[in-house]
Amino acid sequence: MRWKGVIEEYKEYLPVTNKTPFVTFYEGNTPLIESRHVSRLTNCKVYLKYEGANPTGSFKDRGMCLAIAKAVEKGRQAVICASTGNTSASAAAYAVRAGIDCIVIIPKGKIALGKLSQAIMHGAKVFEVDGNFDEALNLVREMGEKYPVEIVNSINPFRIEGQKTGAFEVCNQLGAVPDFHAIPVGNAGNITAYWKGYNEYKAAGKINSLPKMIGFQAEGAAPIVLGHLVKNPETVATAIRIGNPASWKQAEAAARDSGGSISIVTDQEILDAYKVIAAKEGIFCEPASAASVAGTLKLHKAGKIPEGSTIVCVLTGHGLKDPDTAIKQGTKPALVPCKITEIVKRLGY
Ligand code: F0G
Repeated sequence: MRWKGVIEEYKEYLPVTNKTPFVTFYEGNTPLIESRHVSRLTNCKVYLKYEGANPTGSFKDRGMCLAIAKAVEKGRQAVICASTGNTSASAAAYAVRAGIDCIVIIPKGKIALGKLSQAIMHGAKVFEVDGNFDEALNLVREMGEKYPVEIVNSINPFRIEGQKTGAFEVCNQLGAVPDFHAIPVGNAGNITAYWKGYNEYKAAGKINSLPKMIGFQAEGAAPIVLGHLVKNPETVATAIRIGNPASWKQAEAAARDSGGSISIVTDQEILDAYKVIAAKEGIFCEPASAASVAGTLKLHKAGKIPEGSTIVCVLTGHGLKDPDTAIKQGTKPALVPCKITEIVKRLGY
């Protein structure tokens, strides 16, 4: 049967009315792939939920389709978001689909190239501001209060509603509930959404246990772990370069109530995992996404994940989003004369 997209597929779990338009690019239904390498390293069953396979290349599409649909239902002509990149790419595309305008506020110079190119190509009104994501989000909140624009950041509850469907999918694909659910934490909407999804699936009688939620923040942008705001967050994983997460309390509750944790991974650990996932699994994710695998390896090493556990790591965004980091991290192509002898000599044939 043809996949109908998040709103239609999961409508019984979503706040959909007969006036909600089905705005979709057929998002969701992303692959859950067994990670042979990380499973071997940890003696666990590790699966990668590849959200980079969504239409705009990130998990944001799951919630954006609904947020945009509800904005249209409300009669809005424009949506607005602050973004480290993926939210803006998704909002811009879905706004086009719905025939409304999209305004994007991004921190200057800190958006990965692929994401910026998406917002530009979809015709969003893009503003770079001299501030970080947290400051951009404050500006967006004020715009939402004063002007008839709908905020489509994850402070919009419909974003969380749509994103919670990722948890349903994990359970359906696995045919079970994972012991651990590993996820990068930035503005903390996604960990909130997955935890909500698991709980609702349990309440609906679809599953009878819950995973431990293990969230990971980058060392230079770890306000929840540190217990205080980070004024100038910095990390190579620009998607999660956030010092004052909007869903801070909900993320803490998800970790606490599930018996999990939110902890730190360093940029080096993120980059190591980023390279391993690409080179050993054949899956290209963006740096922030690799925090889930980096964190899983770290907790396993620290003896906090028992052998034999089933772990789902969410790979939140596609590697093509951030070509600069990929090229910086990888081996440069060898420049050789255009002769077969030159190639085979280097290959050692
Ligand atoms: N991974 C990627 C690739 C992201 O783009 C984000 C957030 C996260 C993880 C963290 O998710 O914020 O729900 O905790 N990106 C937002 C954006 C902030 O603007 O695109 P979160």
